[in-house]
Amino acid sequence: MKPRLAVNVDHIATIRQARRGVEPDPVAAAILAEVAGASGIIVHLREDRRHIQDRDLRLLREVVKTQLNLEMAATEGMVKIALDVLPDVSTLVPERREELTTEGGLDVAGQEERISRVVRVLTEGEINVSLFVDPVPDQVKASRRTGVPFVEIHTGQYAEARTEAERQVALLRIMEAARLGRDLGLRIAAGHGLNYQNVAAVAAIPEVEELNIGHSIVARAALVGLNRAVREMVGLIHGATQS
Ligand code: PXP
Repeated sequence: MKPRLAVNVDHIATIRQARRGVEPDPVAAAILAEVAGASGIIVHLREDRRHIQDRDLRLLREVVKTQLNLEMAATEGMVKIALDVLPDVSTLVPERREELTTEGGLDVAGQEERISRVVRVLTEGEINVSLFVDPVPDQVKASRRTGVPFVEIHTGQYAEARTEAERQVALLRIMEAARLGRDLGLRIAAGHGLNYQNVAAVAAIPEVEELNIGHSIVARAALVGLNRAVREMVGLIHGATQS
């Protein structure tokens, strides 16, 4: 089975916030993405509300028919919002105000007790929790110990590799982390920086059941339309073979 595509619509909201207006609406984008074949919708409600707003999250909870995944920092305030809105999945990510986007995986190994506590609270609220981690064995093992069903493996290093050799090393790390996670009983997603050029190799990793992609789809949609942008990405994922 090839991975499902979950579409992150944050940057539709980024365009809207450029004018502090009402369009384009990430809620409308989510509906179009689902019609085009997305299996899930993702938003990151950041502390500084630079793109997705609380209103978007509430409306998305009502209209998303596939799966709503809320990316969030592991803070008390965000946990409260998650327990109120009840997304299908909450993905815990590190968050720094000054970063342009999520820069690295969550250091689960370094703060296992705190993360485990947040995982427990969200799980008791019947939210499936996923942890966004670098493809590092200790982080995957620590994630397993927190009790989450899912991890999302950070593909940023692979996406940003400047040489083919660097790319292959980064890909191997993702493959090994995915295999380790699966062996430990975790379900595996992957994402960050994936685009129309680099998605196929990650989509071909047998353990990866979901790819989370945002920026490249929104960027392409700005030029060719969201329906086509999503269809093309689904086609690439379904046609992927392992090299
Ligand atoms: N997964 C996580 C945890 C992220 O933080 C992001 C960026 O918001 C993505 C996936 C999607 O990354 P990109 O926008 O580069 O496709």
